[in-house]
Amino acid sequence: MRPSSQPLCLGRRPPNPLFLGIQRLRPVMSTDFIHEFVPGNSNRTLLLLHGTGGNERDLIAIGRELDPNAALLSPRGKVLENGMPRFFRRLAEGVFDLEDLKHRANELADFVTSAAQHYGFATDQLVAVGYSNGANIAASMLLLRPEIMHRAILFRAMVPLIPDTLPDLSSVRIWIGAGDQDPIVPASETKRLVELLRCAGADVTIRFAKAGHGLTNNDLEAARHWLRALNKPTREKL
Ligand code: MLT
Repeated sequence: MRPSSQPLCLGRRPPNPLFLGIQRLRPVMSTDFIHEFVPGNSNRTLLLLHGTGGNERDLIAIGRELDPNAALLSPRGKVLENGMPRFFRRLAEGVFDLEDLKHRANELADFVTSAAQHYGFATDQLVAVGYSNGANIAASMLLLRPEIMHRAILFRAMVPLIPDTLPDLSSVRIWIGAGDQDPIVPASETKRLVELLRCAGADVTIRFAKAGHGLTNNDLEAARHWLRALNKPTREKL
């Protein structure tokens, strides 16, 4: 069921140390996603997450445009919907299979961890860049496995799930690019996502483009600007 009627801010409880111990014991999985890795000239790596029907090559050019120097890690979603790759199962448009979503978010987080060891990139400089279904799995990882990345660009994202306990995202910065005429993600849904992430303590910048569900050059320009400003010490709202 889509959790649209659930309250977003359920309060943040301190993490259970027992649970943290179990997370630490999680075995490292092999790099078993079909993926592209493009080395870069800086410490930053962009984790590129495509939309429904896309693949690991879809966002490579966009990643390069966003940061010409970053390394690029681009996995292909493992779930097939009528032959179209996705990152998790859905029951209908905007209605997600939550058990599969949780499993897939953990699976992708484990892949990123093992890919960082394999390719030798630092996860503290990792920035997720997700579009549509890819933005929704990125948001799920932020909510379920917040240790994986602290920066994210989410194009056309919605509330993927509401965790039982909100993570502490107070060191996380997120840029959300929405379309003001998006037929798939209404403005109210984007605002719910912003509210949820802010409740968890994240620094969220939201920008509505004059656009539908598809990406525009204005989206990319604004995201690139935000990404560049990340290197500056002060918090700049764009
Ligand atoms: C999703 O299923 O993640 C969203 O509905 C976006 C989409 O892929 O159409």
